[in-house]
Amino acid sequence: MKTIICKMDQATEADVLKKAGEILRKGGLVAFPTETVYGLGANALDETASQKIYKAKGRPSDNPLIVHIADLKALLDLAVDIPEEAYQLAKRFWPGPMTMILKKSALVPKGTTGGLDTVAIRMPYHPVALKLIETSGVYVAAPSANTSGKPSPTTAEHVAQDMDGKIDMIVDGGKVGIGIESSIIDLTGKVPMVLRPGYITKEMFEEVLGQVLFDPAVVHTDPQLKPKAPGMKYKHYAPKGEMILVDGSKDFVTAKINELVGEAKAGGYRTAVIATDETVDLYKDVTVMSIGKRKNEDTIVNNLYAVLRKMDDMEIERIFSESFSDLRLSAAIMNRMLKAAGHRIITEKDN
Ligand code: TXA
Ligand code: MG
Repeated sequence: MKTIICKMDQATEADVLKKAGEILRKGGLVAFPTETVYGLGANALDETASQKIYKAKGRPSDNPLIVHIADLKALLDLAVDIPEEAYQLAKRFWPGPMTMILKKSALVPKGTTGGLDTVAIRMPYHPVALKLIETSGVYVAAPSANTSGKPSPTTAEHVAQDMDGKIDMIVDGGKVGIGIESSIIDLTGKVPMVLRPGYITKEMFEEVLGQVLFDPAVVHTDPQLKPKAPGMKYKHYAPKGEMILVDGSKDFVTAKINELVGEAKAGGYRTAVIATDETVDLYKDVTVMSIGKRKNEDTIVNNLYAVLRKMDDMEIERIFSESFSDLRLSAAIMNRMLKAAGHRIITEKDN
């Protein structure tokens, strides 16, 4: 299949949206930017169309898709028994990087929800995403537009690396604003539960709802615990090289990483360090990439997946990364970093 790649700017916008909307209506696949990561869209109510997503991504069929909407009224089409909390959250965080799990209506095919009776719904903030949903006139099922198991794409180039030749169209809207996937909150239980940490933190949900739980399987590393969001159980975001996180005071972390670098290089491995703007100069004789500024953690979130992809581009075999356990967005950042590292972490207190 030939994949059309279209840059989105003021001059091309109307044509690109028209074309992309048409493809979605006809049951095809279009990758498009959202404020979190690029999504791979298909008509959510057309089971044959959403099945094509699984094929293009190599995604396990029990891993449900998020349905993207542009208008709050869509909730009434897609969900039943909608609790008051859903409207409170929508008012505060939509459009934006939040996905809600609700009981699904009969309209939503099980091919889109991975066989579940619940449905994930999000109203994105990105103007291209919103306009595309509106223009297409369909609800858009969209997982992150990466091959299953690879880091989520934050640029159209990342999408092309994984999807060129497998989908109908890529809408290039430049680099995304946030850089990690939406926070997922499940409203189908007694107490609302965060199933995936993201830019909207548990504390922010609590400001609106009062008590909110965290899916224990997401915060603990116990492999016996089964996450409630099916997708969270898969090994995700893993660079090809072996990655180790080092956690503790700045002095401990830099000394430990320098020691590990020495050992890895002596073993003949292509080695790299993931550091921050504050620490890049503290690692010697090794490839060092800064993931962002600790003083501005949005930059860390924004570069996270691009840095992991870069490690593969450079064919790095051993990656040593600083850890991020003391930031406001720690839950979201460390969830991704721990998965990338296969949960290998060295902490100062254990040393
Ligand atoms: O920011 C995002 O959410 C991006 C953009 C494109 O919107 N999308 C995204 O989709 O991250 P995806 O498919 O990569 O992740 C969806 C997650 C998976 O972990 C999936 O298991 C979970 O949402 N999920 C979807 N429907 C669910 C449901 N009914 N119950 C529990 N978890 C669900
Ligand atoms: Mg994904």
